[in-house]
Amino acid sequence: MTHDAAPLAAAGPQRLLVLGANGPTGREVVQQALNRGHRVDALTRHPESFPLHRQRLRVVAGDATDPAVIDTAVAATDSVICTIGAAFTLKPVEVYSATTRSVIAAMENHHRRRLIVVTSAGVRRSHHQSGIAQVVAYGLMRHVLGRTVYDDMAKMESLITASTLDWTIVHPPGLVSIPGHSYAVAADEIEGNLCARDDLARLLIDQLTDDRFLRGIAAVATPGLSISAGHMIRHEILKR
Ligand SMILES: NC(=O)c1ccc[n+]([C@@H]2O[C@H](COP(=O)([O-])OP(=O)(O)OC[C@H]3O[C@@H](n4cnc5c(N)ncnc54)[C@H](OP(=O)(O)O)[C@@H]3O)[C@@H](O)[C@H]2O)c1
Repeated sequence: MTHDAAPLAAAGPQRLLVLGANGPTGREVVQQALNRGHRVDALTRHPESFPLHRQRLRVVAGDATDPAVIDTAVAATDSVICTIGAAFTLKPVEVYSATTRSVIAAMENHHRRRLIVVTSAGVRRSHHQSGIAQVVAYGLMRHVLGRTVYDDMAKMESLITASTLDWTIVHPPGLVSIPGHSYAVAADEIEGNLCARDDLARLLIDQLTDDRFLRGIAAVATPGLSISAGHMIRHEILKR
């Protein structure tokens, strides 16, 4: 991992722009960031359904793929955390790359440096997938069911890695909305099939002042987490 970027901001309150703020991970990021003393601008297309009303929180209405919306939002912030997501579909997906193009242009325009984004461990095949069943399941997800989502995440990553920003790309495995306890993180790859969204949010906020994964990939998981197939189907698949 290269470390040729400028030192990160010292620990202390920052003004954060959270993209995808109204998703289950985004809401966790907003809540935890406020609890940790940051000011937060939470961007959502559906401000009426955003559940948090707190001091130091500003809910910004807008579509993250709109360059004008992003330019205005970035101008008012120090750092950007992106948790934008799209459900699996066979149709083309562009939300990750379109958002990223605008974010990079706006951050360069306003001289902002720190960009932390979530894509997925599924973008690349993991060396931890040893059994044939795992390899087949991964192939089905990456190249059939989720192909257009993962392809756009890969495009997002290419745009980011080609930028001069102080970026970190975060790779979680499957996300679940049950309480975690603490996350495990490593460069590029980590063992583990699940990550609690509150752990992912904690890691994302920690990255504001952590330079270990600067201009690199932070692979995160919640060790020891397990859920039933029924829980996964009810809470993660049918809800989408
Ligand atoms: N679910 C998993 O198992 C899993 C696994 C690995 C990685 N990930 C990634 O982890 C991240 C968080 O996932 P999640 O399941 O917590 O959230 P999510 O359900 O994917 O929701 C993310 C939010 O993105 C927002 N969004 C989508 N398009 C937008 C647009 N054009 N403009 C503004 N906002 C937009 C939506 O909010 P509004 O509709 O309110 O705007 C949505 O609530 C995503 O990047 C996802 O791809 C998920």
